[in-house]
Amino acid sequence: TTAATAQGLPPLEQKDQYTVGFAQTESNNPWRIAQTKSFQDTAASCNWNLVYTDAAGSAAKQVADVDSMIAQGVDAIFLPPREEQPLLPAVLRAKGAGIPVFLVDRSVDPNVAKAGVDYVTFMGSDFIEQGRRAAEWLIANSDGTEVIVELEGTTGSSPANDRKKGFDDAVAGQSGMTIVASQSGDFARDKGRQVMETLLQSHPDVTVVYAHNDEMAIGAIQALEAAGRKPGEDVTLVSIDGTRDALQAIIDGKLGVSVESAPFFGPVACDTMKAYAAGEDVPTWVKVEDRVFTKDNAADHIGEAY
Ligand code: AHR
Repeated sequence: TTAATAQGLPPLEQKDQYTVGFAQTESNNPWRIAQTKSFQDTAASCNWNLVYTDAAGSAAKQVADVDSMIAQGVDAIFLPPREEQPLLPAVLRAKGAGIPVFLVDRSVDPNVAKAGVDYVTFMGSDFIEQGRRAAEWLIANSDGTEVIVELEGTTGSSPANDRKKGFDDAVAGQSGMTIVASQSGDFARDKGRQVMETLLQSHPDVTVVYAHNDEMAIGAIQALEAAGRKPGEDVTLVSIDGTRDALQAIIDGKLGVSVESAPFFGPVACDTMKAYAAGEDVPTWVKVEDRVFTKDNAADHIGEAY
């Protein structure tokens, strides 16, 4: 019995090959595609038989996908819960069925389910810190007076909740900076563009757009340009992820900063699962360290970007 299984977590047998479930949320942006590729590449190097599902942007489908993995009796499940609440029961059902769950990149409601008790661990970034770092860059690159529009990620998802908190709390200390609107663009480029188009009508005096991911920032750039505005000149954009298109937008002078949120979870997933099977103590948070991309280093990193 290890510290973890003593807490009631299902054990994982040590063996050469595992059947591993990866229940993706959607595949409509480069970040998700890079994450999936990382799991697929790792399936080969870590000797996994990978059961891959794509919930196509539906939390209900993702619940059904996890239930189907439970029914198939996979050895372990890697899950980025699309939203914090709806996936909770599925996480608990997997535990009840004796299948260890590893949350990747997104979390479930921490007030209800606990790492090390209900699921093995959360592997991912500090989303609050990402939001705070985006705000810190803005504060350092502003004359102090800003009219801010915020494009939020998927409603009810941990990155949307936490990136909002980190940024809003930091900006609240700046008397000249006001967030005049904050609306969800569902982490999607086209939705970000549409929401920005609408918000530009009600807030034509906007000077800053904070987007919870790069895809929405690119959509906002499109909306601003269509309205005759000059992103990077009369409107400052800040966002999160570090995609290739975002690094290009930084090089082009349209995007100010992209705080990295690394999607390459496969290798750490392999190591964490092996450590768990070996009975080692796995931390409740396997933290991913992120960089910050600006005009000072975007060109150095675009070659490795996705
Ligand atoms: O959970 C991480 C977020 O999900 C990424 O920032 C976003 O691009 C993705 O959809």
